[in-house]
Amino acid sequence: MKETTARVRVLADRDEVARAAAEEFLSTVAGATPERPRRILLSGGTTPEPLYRILASEPTRSRIDWSSLELYFGDERPVPPDHPESNYGLAYRMLLEPLGLRAPRTSRIRGEASDLELAARRYEALIRARFAPVPPADPAFDLVYLGLGEDGHTASLFPGVEIPDDPPRLVVAVRVEALQSMRATATYRLLNAARRVVFLVAGKGKAAAVQRTLAPDGGETPTPAARISPANGEVIWLLDQDAASRVPRPAGREHR
Ligand code: 6PG
Repeated sequence: MKETTARVRVLADRDEVARAAAEEFLSTVAGATPERPRRILLSGGTTPEPLYRILASEPTRSRIDWSSLELYFGDERPVPPDHPESNYGLAYRMLLEPLGLRAPRTSRIRGEASDLELAARRYEALIRARFAPVPPADPAFDLVYLGLGEDGHTASLFPGVEIPDDPPRLVVAVRVEALQSMRATATYRLLNAARRVVFLVAGKGKAAAVQRTLAPDGGETPTPAARISPANGEVIWLLDQDAASRVPRPAGREHR
């Protein structure tokens, strides 16, 4: 796996992280047209909430041509969209509904499906059809947002959970013993095909996982988040002070 140097930005707090994440969104969608829409993969979890609030509010919302982008989801829980645990549900309430965005501009993983693997395959087929990459290339998102769990998971790629890739897969359903639950998730292959990956991480609870991912002591198994290293793209870590509190600050890493 080609090592991609991650750019780490340490910001004052969760809101500053969201503002920096919104800037990444704006720079990604600049120049987008309906013929060349920008394709963005949204993260699950709660950390994206202030980002959604900024994107759905003025002045930011008017700076974006929403008809020239497509929104997708990196993972989903096995629940319907109106369930409090639904990743799509959170984005719908805070971003999509206020902006009147719906399919086909937005595409969700059907978490409520009785066969989550079938739902994952259908989402994979939709992405392949929309992106129509020239084989053997994989579909390349212009921007991927990811979070980080306290165990080092990202999307629903959990420690110790094997992700099938023979034949190559983009979206799979997995059993996560730690959660005693199923999840549908983008695979390492799909995430590592992206042009830009932005991690949003805030709070003291994440400091150990950030340290194990960005500055591991030798000999540790890499966290799932550490395996996100796009072959032809960049990785940007947006951390608040608390989340960055256990990462050494060598010169050259951006801290502001
Ligand atoms: C999910 C997410 C997951 C999330 C992290 C962080 O569906 O749970 O995709 O990877 O990003 O668990 O979650 P918080 O942002 O809520 O801390």
